[in-house]
Amino acid sequence: MIQTISSSTRFTGTVELPADKSIAHRAALFASIADGVSTLHHFPASADPQSTLSCLRQLGVPIENSPNHTVVIQGGGRHGFCAPNAPLDCGNSGTTMRLLTGMLAGQPFDSELIGDASLNARPMRRIAAPLRAMGARISLTDGHAPIKIQRCEKLKAIDYRLPVASAQVKSCVLLAGLWADGSTTVREAIPSRDHTERMLRLPISRSTQECSINSDALHPIPGGTVILPGDFSAAAFLLVAALIAGTGPVHLPNVGLNPSRTGLLAVLKQMGAEIQVTAHNASGVEPVGSLTVQRSPLRGVVIQGRQIPNIIDEIPIIAVAGAFAKGTTILRDATELRYKECDRIHAIVTNLRKLGAEIEEFKDGFAITGMVPLKGNTVSSYDDHRIAMAMGVAGLAASGTTTIQNADAASVSFPEFWDTISRLQT
Ligand code: S3P
Repeated sequence: MIQTISSSTRFTGTVELPADKSIAHRAALFASIADGVSTLHHFPASADPQSTLSCLRQLGVPIENSPNHTVVIQGGGRHGFCAPNAPLDCGNSGTTMRLLTGMLAGQPFDSELIGDASLNARPMRRIAAPLRAMGARISLTDGHAPIKIQRCEKLKAIDYRLPVASAQVKSCVLLAGLWADGSTTVREAIPSRDHTERMLRLPISRSTQECSINSDALHPIPGGTVILPGDFSAAAFLLVAALIAGTGPVHLPNVGLNPSRTGLLAVLKQMGAEIQVTAHNASGVEPVGSLTVQRSPLRGVVIQGRQIPNIIDEIPIIAVAGAFAKGTTILRDATELRYKECDRIHAIVTNLRKLGAEIEEFKDGFAITGMVPLKGNTVSSYDDHRIAMAMGVAGLAASGTTTIQNADAASVSFPEFWDTISRLQT
């Protein structure tokens, strides 16, 4: 699908966001190994969480879709999965593949996980190495998926220091630990999103140097009712759109405000953004609130080091904010961006240059000089949902018309994105 976006004079309204993708994957995966029925409210129709559901169905987990995005999962406990009779297709979803590999490493049957071309190009040694240290029998295809897992009745616990700040790797090892002999410890020096440890209520200890999280075969898996909050990473595109385009305000109710995800708010506030945050009394383990944002003049910032994992998914849209900020916005220490759904550093730099931006590429980031007028052009989504949406927002604030190729990539996390943009413009 080709999407055209024209510069906007009006951009205002209230948006109900799709539910948080990271939380939705985990809610479904954990419900499948809980004992009894779990009801997940607001389960997203987006492609990635649906890939998780279809893999779980292939593993024999009874899942019912009820009206209003409610999904009912009959958990079978830790030993409830059945051997799949075909490869498990994770689509475009790295979270599905990496977390599910952890859950399948210690099962009494063989399995295979496959993905689309983008997922099959993403690094998987980062999960295979710790799982092999636990005794799992995993084979990769030149460091990538397809991933073949041979049956393994008992994993052994490990004490693992994460070599890369990654919630997916952390979660993969902790989940494998649920089928291991002894207590598995994962240590992280730089915090990454903490949904797994929160939702499973895993024991955590913190020192000045690191955070360590434990899992073991006796840890009870909580099931029950989960109300999924709106996706902060989807909100990010609308926040920046409202800051740089049209009149505002834009109101975003029921957004997940887990502090390991909301680093963008601090970045945007440092840039001069006017954003009101109202925290709600959340009933679950994940904090929720609402956001109201006004158009605001922005200034450039430097983003680096420990800030990066918290804002990793928001960097494409931060680059767009930087293009409309006074001064230079510099991003460093973000080499991980090259291993996402596409090489996001390359995609951001190439696309923004096509619109006329002054942007320099580094191995681990970029520097963008703001306030250089952007002019519409044709850009590619690189088949990456976040690149597609970031370029849509750039198109709202650039002069003329911007054409985004393969814009339907947005449906991986935000299927209503293009309709939402057009509604707020009119
Ligand atoms: C995610 C973790 C992050 C993030 C991804 C979702 C998760 O990946 O980029 O969109 O749900 O755990 P890494 O853990 O590889 O950094």
